[in-house]
Amino acid sequence: MKISFESSSDAQIQAMIVDDGVSLPEAAEVLDKASGGLLTEALCAERFTGKVGQQAIVVMPSAVETRRVVLVGGGKPADRKAATYERIGAELIKSQSMSGFKSLALTVSEAEHAASAAAGAKLAAYRFDTYFTKLKDEQKPSLTSFAVITADPGAAQEAFVPLDAETAGTSLARDLMNEPPNVLYPENFAARAKALEVEGLEVEILGEAQMEALGMGSLLGVGQGSIRESQMAIMKWSGGGREDPVCLVGKGVCFDTGGISLKPGASMEDMKGDMGGAAAVTGTMLALAKRKAKANVIGLIGLVENMPDGNAIRPGDILTSASGQTIEVQNTDAEGRLVLADVLWYAQEHFKPRAIVDLATLTGAIVISLGHEHAGLFSNSDELAGALSAASETSGEKVWRLPMGETYDGLLKSKFADMRNIGGRAAGSITAAQFLKRFVKDGQAWAHLDIAGVAWREGSKPASDPSWPSGFGPRLLSRWIAENYEG
Ligand code: BES
Ligand code: MN
Ligand code: ZN
Repeated sequence: MKISFESSSDAQIQAMIVDDGVSLPEAAEVLDKASGGLLTEALCAERFTGKVGQQAIVVMPSAVETRRVVLVGGGKPADRKAATYERIGAELIKSQSMSGFKSLALTVSEAEHAASAAAGAKLAAYRFDTYFTKLKDEQKPSLTSFAVITADPGAAQEAFVPLDAETAGTSLARDLMNEPPNVLYPENFAARAKALEVEGLEVEILGEAQMEALGMGSLLGVGQGSIRESQMAIMKWSGGGREDPVCLVGKGVCFDTGGISLKPGASMEDMKGDMGGAAAVTGTMLALAKRKAKANVIGLIGLVENMPDGNAIRPGDILTSASGQTIEVQNTDAEGRLVLADVLWYAQEHFKPRAIVDLATLTGAIVISLGHEHAGLFSNSDELAGALSAASETSGEKVWRLPMGETYDGLLKSKFADMRNIGGRAAGSITAAQFLKRFVKDGQAWAHLDIAGVAWREGSKPASDPSWPSGFGPRLLSRWIAENYEG
């Protein structure tokens, strides 16, 4: 989708925002007159109240150059926020992208609002058609350009730069999750991370031999049943001078069968998305590079495939992690924490992180607790948890904090090793977070986002989330970094 900001446009479809309470906006008056009052008539005749997202589509007479007018509800002007404009942009794409017309222009006078509407449009226009070979023309979007008619196009374009960078991060996260697991296995994912060097990131890839030398027996244990080689990618963005970095850590299980503790068959194909945390971190790194963030950020992703095999880890096996702590594996399907344990440790051994945030599709239990609306937030720092919650308010990627504590930690006790990798049936998301915390050094600010419920969603979804994966993460993290680490 080509996005532009203009002071006027001859697009085939003209869209205008109508306030709640319904009167024709100024921008629509010329077209109303030219069409002999069709727009006024549409507002009166239809059940249109101006509620956010509502649309009245009016076909123009052939004498008028504009082919269609979309009157789109904007709610009460005083209630309109960035998210409202984003939604309006997204809803317009949803209703018009297959309309047969090529160009649409939406009138939004204020620059910031114009930029938000454009970001919503871009998110909604996302498609992943790579593997369709037989799409007919009418199954492909017709709309190729989305213009925002605005008072100061230059200012709107400038306000759009960071939002556009973040939507690029979201799209990359979605692409990575959409790819099938026979294509996106650990080495291929690592290669895609490496390819981001053209954006100005510095990317290092570690293979199994290097991770073995580092003693990463926990991560390597998960990958040992796979014919694919496990990898770790370290992506650096250095935009902040000499300051210590923020570290982002991602779970990248490119496919999670459960291993020997095999998952049931139903919907197992969704487990190609079990690298959603790594996708979010990679997308964030792209967003930071594209908007030239004034911060030092390091993204670290552990990439493995969890397979049942003669060489796979068994329930009962004891793994030694890079931290030296031993782990009795009681369930090979609780593999994400085994991967993160070693990557978290690596981050603290090699850098002095001002904060670490890890993202992981870690537990089914978080879907039961919070559904598809909020990611679970766990942290050892009220300040960090507060900052992430604040960024989640403005980014639209919501988080909800859950408790931690010693009694939960006690559930990880093992008869044979320093800990076991499951805590029993109760509080499954919390005991998973407690497990990770055992690999966070004292005094290290750390937060964990369990995104199993939001990385892909069931049920009704916003227009800005049109594909299977949501691409959750880059917008939240980019804003959190902007609000806290960029001076
Ligand atoms: N990748 C899954 C968690 C998951 C479930 C993500 C549903 C997305 C949707 C994770 O590796 C897993 O299998 N967790 C187990 C942990 C259990 C064995 C303690 C789970 O949640 O059942
Ligand atoms: Mn699992
Ligand atoms: Zn998993």
